[in-house]
Amino acid sequence: MKVFVAGGAGYIGSHAVYELLRAGHEVVVYDNLSTGRRAAVHPEARFYEGDILDRARVVEVLEAERETGAVAVALHFAAKLIVPESVTHPLAYYHNNVEGLRQMLAGLIEADVRHVVFSSTAAVYGEPGEGECFEESATLPINPYGETKLAAERMIQWVAAAHGMNFCVFRYFNVAGADASLEIGLDKDQLTHLVPLIMQTALGQRDRLSIFGSDYDTPDGTCIRDYIHVSDLARAHVLGAEHIVKHQESLLLNLGSGRGYSVREVVAEAEALFPFAYEYAARRPGDPARLIANIQKAREQLDWQPRLGLREILQSDYAYRKKLLEEG
Ligand SMILES: NC(=O)c1ccc[n+]([C@@H]2O[C@H](COP(=O)([O-])OP(=O)(O)OC[C@H]3O[C@@H](n4cnc5c(N)ncnc54)[C@H](O)[C@@H]3O)[C@@H](O)[C@H]2O)c1
Repeated sequence: MKVFVAGGAGYIGSHAVYELLRAGHEVVVYDNLSTGRRAAVHPEARFYEGDILDRARVVEVLEAERETGAVAVALHFAAKLIVPESVTHPLAYYHNNVEGLRQMLAGLIEADVRHVVFSSTAAVYGEPGEGECFEESATLPINPYGETKLAAERMIQWVAAAHGMNFCVFRYFNVAGADASLEIGLDKDQLTHLVPLIMQTALGQRDRLSIFGSDYDTPDGTCIRDYIHVSDLARAHVLGAEHIVKHQESLLLNLGSGRGYSVREVVAEAEALFPFAYEYAARRPGDPARLIANIQKAREQLDWQPRLGLREILQSDYAYRKKLLEEG
């Protein structure tokens, strides 16, 4: 089927494009290249530069594509996602993540595209008491980024009900790693995330890694998180898109690995692969002790499960960044 991918030049979107093409789908990428790169778009995908805030352009592209077969489903990755930036610039986040989605949904309806897959985040859960997040768990975001994603989820649900659309909302946990081809990967630095920080230290771009907090109520005192390989995540998007088109129903699913690793465990796994220095530092505000996805629903609904573990995440991320550095 033909798939429209908004944000397909970004980190996760570009991996979804690779997996869609591997599954035999036809792909149209729509991106304003604000944080994405044209070079990350697979050469077999058709690329249109454009903003999701520009509804007329969205409709124009969808109508132009109709001549060779209508778009069956749209994937939305086109968002801003840096939590500290969302705290200092909340209006920019509401504009891009909420108004941008509103314009894109209006464009989809105008062009009669009735299936949408949306990237949400574990940030909608805020600081869950138990640590394991179920789709039914309370949603209490603690920053503007999470708030905009929750508002977007709710918009999709209301709009879908009113306009006969089907959606698949995915709430991602910690995403890392690179495609096995090493043609795409994460090449910008979200400096609050553990895996990029480890990689920067291992590749000599920072002196040492800081482990924030060693006195949490966890077995080794460091925070526990759920890490998922970007290719496993991307594969779930292919299955989610196929599912909602085939079964004409909507889904809301967590995407993680379903198991937690402490920061200390991630560091130990990485140290076995490459050397780097680290130190313990004070806790950061707003870091819950434990955040783990319950992924039972995604397993059951999509017949999906993660194939790649923490070692593959770290190995592929390191190999991709090393390759980028060597290429200059
Ligand atoms: N990376 C993570 O760890 C993570 C975790 C949870 C959720 N998510 C969600 O996944 C999605 C993709 O994240 P990513 O890590 O690939 O980020 P990214 O910045 O690499 O990709 C976003 C892409 O969307 C494009 N874009 C942004 N605003 C746009 C607009 N208004 N119009 C057209 N294109 C626009 C950018 O140019 C970029 O190519 C986001 O919705 C994000 O909230 C990411």
